[in-house]
Amino acid sequence: MNKCAVILAAGQGKRMKSAGPKAMCRVLLKPMIDWVIDAVRGAGITEICVVTGCGAEQLRAHLPEDIVTVRQERQLGTGDAVRAAADFIAQQGGSVIVLNGDAPLIDSETIRDAFEKHASEGNAATVISARVDNPYGYGRIVIDHRDGSLSRIVEEKDADEQEKGIYEVNSGAFWFDSADLLRSLEGLRGDNAQGEYYLTDTVAILRRAGKRAGVYSTANSSVVLGANDRAQLMELNRIARRRVFDALLAEGVDIPCPDGVIIGPDVRIGRDTLILPNTILSGSTVIGESCTVGPNTRVEDSKIADGVRLDNVVCERARVRSGADIGPFVHIRPNSDVGERVHLGNFVEVKNSTVGEGTKVSHLTYVGDSDVGARVNFGCGCVTVNYDGKAKHRTTIGDNAFIGCNTNLIAPVTVAENAYTAAGSTITEDVPAEALGIARARQVNKEGWVRRRK
Ligand code: UD1
Ligand code: CA
Repeated sequence: MNKCAVILAAGQGKRMKSAGPKAMCRVLLKPMIDWVIDAVRGAGITEICVVTGCGAEQLRAHLPEDIVTVRQERQLGTGDAVRAAADFIAQQGGSVIVLNGDAPLIDSETIRDAFEKHASEGNAATVISARVDNPYGYGRIVIDHRDGSLSRIVEEKDADEQEKGIYEVNSGAFWFDSADLLRSLEGLRGDNAQGEYYLTDTVAILRRAGKRAGVYSTANSSVVLGANDRAQLMELNRIARRRVFDALLAEGVDIPCPDGVIIGPDVRIGRDTLILPNTILSGSTVIGESCTVGPNTRVEDSKIADGVRLDNVVCERARVRSGADIGPFVHIRPNSDVGERVHLGNFVEVKNSTVGEGTKVSHLTYVGDSDVGARVNFGCGCVTVNYDGKAKHRTTIGDNAFIGCNTNLIAPVTVAENAYTAAGSTITEDVPAEALGIARARQVNKEGWVRRRK
């Protein structure tokens, strides 16, 4: 049967005190909306619609192309938000899961298992719920004890004392039969404490129409946790961080002290890799086996092979091949490919460049827009002068070249294989293979100059 998902993300999150949409607030450096989308995709659902409102442009720009977005003009409640997606739901038919964009810890397994129960019980709606220690602020699950079905959901602000004592709460995620959902949305009234159209009211509406509603209660209570403010966001970070650590430790990653360590949920790390304090690994980063990463290192969307050392390094959207020894104090910028066993040392910056295997760039050097061969040696303080004030140009350096200390390479320029540049040269013309390029004034010593000056 056809399955699709609608994710509610129109809210601003006033309590977050954020200028942007709440669903863009991040847990382990990943926007909450992306957590929800990944959980949905992991459950095999490909047709996804996100309801946007506050910060709609920002969300649209962030979301992948294959995600449909619809706009809820005014935030009149979760039921009204689903109405904004009515055309999408009608087109898809079948079953639809509605989820909150601010509850990132929902997982694919829960989505799948809840669907099984939804289908096997023949429900019009099935809510995903869990028992929590502190139900304050959540919708409470009221069970019909005659048959164990879901009677209704009561919001905190509308609950009486007895209902407030219910610890089973609404995650905000529901499976619906699409046609039943669309019909029940027409019956929503904003006659509650907040004057909003509540999605949760569809349950009672469906029951009055003779349909069955059910509960899928999960033992994993973090699934229901939402973040309405920064304190809850920090709590979600704490839970997610621990979960990521536990998974990595189980795979043989060594994290002797987690102080200052943040690792995103999609980062993969090989066994025997050591992660030292103040290391932040985010996005789609993959790190191989037997690496040492940190201390004080940030790696974003990069691919790091086996046996690499990253000591006090910032590495963004780049690739570092096996056995490379990087740091301390190195910045590898986007679109760089650092070869096997390369050494980049103190205060070296590499940008949009390839660096061939075994090359050494040990101190105070900028390699930008360059193609550097294998086994090249850079002396201290070299600069590829890639920008003439209008356009960027490339520098090419052949295998085994030797770039003398304090060389400026004015691009576009080539230093061919096995060539040398003399220290202090400003190289503006190509240096042929096996030649020495010297581009500096000859030294003159003026004898007795100091005495004459006096
Ligand atoms: C909602 C549920 C509550 C549940 C809780 C779980 C309702 C009425 N209440 O409460 O039962 O326990 O989630 O976290 O559904 N949104 C829109 N448009 C709107 C209003 C909200 O898109 O007009 C989006 C928000 O951006 C958010 C989600 O819907 O992603 C939930 O809205 P929120 O206001 O946070 O609802 P809660 O009060 O947390
Ligand atoms: Ca919420």
